[in-house]
Amino acid sequence: MATNRTFTMIKPDAVANGHIGAILNDIIASGFRIVAMKYTKLSPEKAGEFYAVHKERGFYGDLVSFMSSGPIVAAILEKTNAVEDFRALIGATNPADAAEGTIRQKYAKSIDANAVHGSDSDENAEIEGNFYFTAFDKF
Ligand code: PPS
Repeated sequence: MATNRTFTMIKPDAVANGHIGAILNDIIASGFRIVAMKYTKLSPEKAGEFYAVHKERGFYGDLVSFMSSGPIVAAILEKTNAVEDFRALIGATNPADAAEGTIRQKYAKSIDANAVHGSDSDENAEIEGNFYFTAFDKF
């Protein structure tokens, strides 16, 4: 299996609830290497741009306002089978459906504030990582 990369954000709810350390610990303990990482805050414009693919969905406005409501941690992660393995580590989008031991089951309360983002494909991981980081930020 090839070593590849995924992109994640620790979302405003998880940051506000003090879960940055625990989530990073779970990520590293699961074998992911941090390639780039940033503590930052999205403006509503930047959040709207990041989630533009969901523009037609009913929850788009809520998602944009939630994702710009407080600081986040953005990171590029590397591992064999990174995209798929990271989606397994974080669990289902709705924490009510997330498997025991997954990050969303442990740290998220609702579908609209679900603690973490994980890219859904290698192509989107590349696009999303480049939204935050330049080549000089990646190690
Ligand atoms: S997924 O994981 O991308 O397949 O999930 P999807 O259902 O397509 O959701 C895309 C992103 O929208 C968020 N989401 C919501 N936000 C607010 N309210 C509601 N009801 C809602 N449903 C889904 C979901 O957390 C996904 O965000 P990311 O950052 O991609 O995880």
